[in-house]
Amino acid sequence: MCGIVGYVGNQSVVDILLDGLEQLEYRGYDSAGVALQTPDKLDVYKAVGKLCNLREELKHHTDETRKAIMGIGHIRWATHGAPTVLNAHPHTCNCGNLVVVHNGIVENYKELRELLTAKGCVFKTQTDTEVVAHLIAQKYALSKDLTEAVRLAVKDLKGAYALCVMHKEEKNKLVGTKLNAPLLIGVGEKENFFASDVPAIIKHTKKAVYLEDGEIATLTKDTYSVIDSDGNVVEKKVEMLPWEPVALSKMGYKHFMLKEIHEQPDVIRNILTGKLHTPQDNVILNEVKLTREHLKNLNRIQIIACGTSLHAAMIGKYLIETLCGIAVDVEASSEYIYRRTVTDEHTLVIGVSQSGETADTLTAIKQAKAKGSHILIITNRPDSAMAREADSLVPVNAGIEVSVAATKSYIAQLVSFYLLAIYMAEIKESANEYLLLSLKTDLMILPQKIEQILSHKEEIQKCAKIYSGTKDFIYIARGINYPTALEGALKLKEISYINATGYPAGELKHGPIAMLDETMPVLSILMKGCVYEKLLSNSEEAKARNARMIALTNSEDEKLNDLFDFIIRVPDVQDLLSPILAIVPLQLLAYYIAEFLGKDVDQPRNLAKSVTVE
Ligand code: G6P
Repeated sequence: MCGIVGYVGNQSVVDILLDGLEQLEYRGYDSAGVALQTPDKLDVYKAVGKLCNLREELKHHTDETRKAIMGIGHIRWATHGAPTVLNAHPHTCNCGNLVVVHNGIVENYKELRELLTAKGCVFKTQTDTEVVAHLIAQKYALSKDLTEAVRLAVKDLKGAYALCVMHKEEKNKLVGTKLNAPLLIGVGEKENFFASDVPAIIKHTKKAVYLEDGEIATLTKDTYSVIDSDGNVVEKKVEMLPWEPVALSKMGYKHFMLKEIHEQPDVIRNILTGKLHTPQDNVILNEVKLTREHLKNLNRIQIIACGTSLHAAMIGKYLIETLCGIAVDVEASSEYIYRRTVTDEHTLVIGVSQSGETADTLTAIKQAKAKGSHILIITNRPDSAMAREADSLVPVNAGIEVSVAATKSYIAQLVSFYLLAIYMAEIKESANEYLLLSLKTDLMILPQKIEQILSHKEEIQKCAKIYSGTKDFIYIARGINYPTALEGALKLKEISYINATGYPAGELKHGPIAMLDETMPVLSILMKGCVYEKLLSNSEEAKARNARMIALTNSEDEKLNDLFDFIIRVPDVQDLLSPILAIVPLQLLAYYIAEFLGKDVDQPRNLAKSVTVE
C-alpha cells in the first residue's frame, strides 16, 4: 500500500505531485505529504487525512512552492505508527537535508533503530521508514553520492520497499529503488517521473521503465539510468503503456464504482474478443502454456488469492472440478504461505489478483514456483510483478479500476475462469461437448443480460432504501453461488460498514439461524438449477424465524411472492453461468445502500485497493 510519486522537470512540481498522488489514492488515504526542492532549500509539507487536506495546506505556501524544481510525494496507508502529521511521509534525516518516501515494511527496523540511535541519530516518529532516512544519510556522509548512498543503505534493509529519495545538495537528482513493492519510471521530454503505478503518470507520458527488485534508478530532468545492487549499469527496456487517461475519469457518474459496474458488459465483450470467436470454436488462450500431457500429469490444482479475487477463485474451483474433473483447492494466500503445502511439479498453482501485486499472493506464487509447480496467473495487470512470475497468463482486460471496492475486475476474473475451465476441458476432452457449446453460446449473450439488469436499477434502489437502516445483513446461497453470497456481503461491508455475512444456506441451521428475528434481512440468491429447491427450503426456515426475506432470483415461481418481502429479478440464465449475473444486483445494492448512508463509496475507511504488505 502507500503511493509514491517523484518528479524532476520544468512543469509545476506541486501540481504534478498532487495530481499523481490523487491517482494513487486507491493505495491509501490516511495522510499525505510532499518534499519540494527549491533552488536554495528543501521543504516538507504534510497533512493528515485525504489528499485534499494537503492541497489546502499547500495553498498557504504558494510563494515558496512555485519555486520548486523537483519533488517527491507520498500517500499513506499506516502500518507502523498512527496516521499523524509526524508519521506522514516524507521522512528526513536529523539535519533535514535528505528526504525519503517509502512504500512497504522494513521488517528489521527495530534493530536498525537501535543501531542508529547508538550512533547518535534521534528518532522523531514511530515509523519503520525513518530508519531508511538516517541510514541513507549516513552512507551519503561518506560517499557524497546519492545513488551510491542508496545502493549501500538498502543492503541493510529487510522486508519490502519502494523508495524515492532526494538530497538538498543534489539539485537535479532523484533516486529510487525497490524490493517486493512496485516502482516504475515515467520517461518524458525534459522531465522524468517515479511512480508506484501507471495512473500517476499517464497524463504526462506513455513511456515507462519497470524496475526489477534490487535495481537503483537515478533520474535527472534529461536522463535516467539504472544500476543493479552491485553497481553495474543495467540497460532497461522502455515500454509503451496501454492505458488511456480517459479511464481515470468518472465520465458523468457520481462515483467510480457506479461507472465501473456499468462498464461490465463491455468488459465481458473485451475479454471474449480474440478468445472465443463463435460457440463452435475452441477457446483460445495464447498465453496459457498447458499441454494435454501436462494436464494429464496434474494431481491437483491450488488456487490462491485474497479478498474479492478469492471469491472468484472459489467459483473457479467449482467450474474446473465440474468441467475438468481435476481436484482443486482454494486458499487465502495469507494462510497458504505459512504452512507446509503439498505442492510440487504435479500441481498447477493459479494465482488470482486484480492488481498483480498483492504481497501475500506474490509470496505464495514464489513459494510454489520454487517447488516446481507450473504458475498460472489471472490478473488485470499484465505488467505486474505477479505476471512476471507466470509460466501461463490469463490477462483479464477489465481496464483500470479506480474504486477500492472491486466490481468489474471481479466479473472479468469470473469470465477468465469460465474461459480457462472450458479451455482445459477442451484439451482434456473431459466435458460433454454440448455442455461446452451451450456455455460458450450463453457466455456470449451475457453482456446483453447485464445491460438489462443495469437498465432496471430502480427496483434495487428501492430495496436499498428499505434496508439501508439495518445494522446486519445475511446473504445465503448454495452451490456455485455460495461465493456470490460471500462477495455480495463483502461489497456491502466494505462500503457501507454494515455487518454483512455470507453463508452456505445449509449451514444456517448449524448456528447462524440463532441470530434471526424480525430485524434481520436475509437475502437468498435463488437461481434456478440443481440447488434451487434446497435453497427454497432454507429460505422457508429463515422466514419461519421472522427474518426480513429478500430474493435475488431468475425464477417466476409464484411461491416466492408469499415467502419474500422483496424480490430482485434477473434475466434467465443457466445454473453454471448464474454467478456472473447474480453479482451485478448485489454490487448495485451495496452501492445504493452506501450512497443512501452518505458513505465515501470510492474510498471506504481503512481500506486500500492494493495491499503490498503482508
Ligand atoms: C484489497 C482490495 C480488495 C481486493 C484484495 C485483493 O483488499 O481492497 O478489493 O480484492 O485487496 O487484491 P488483488 O489485487 O490481489 O485482487
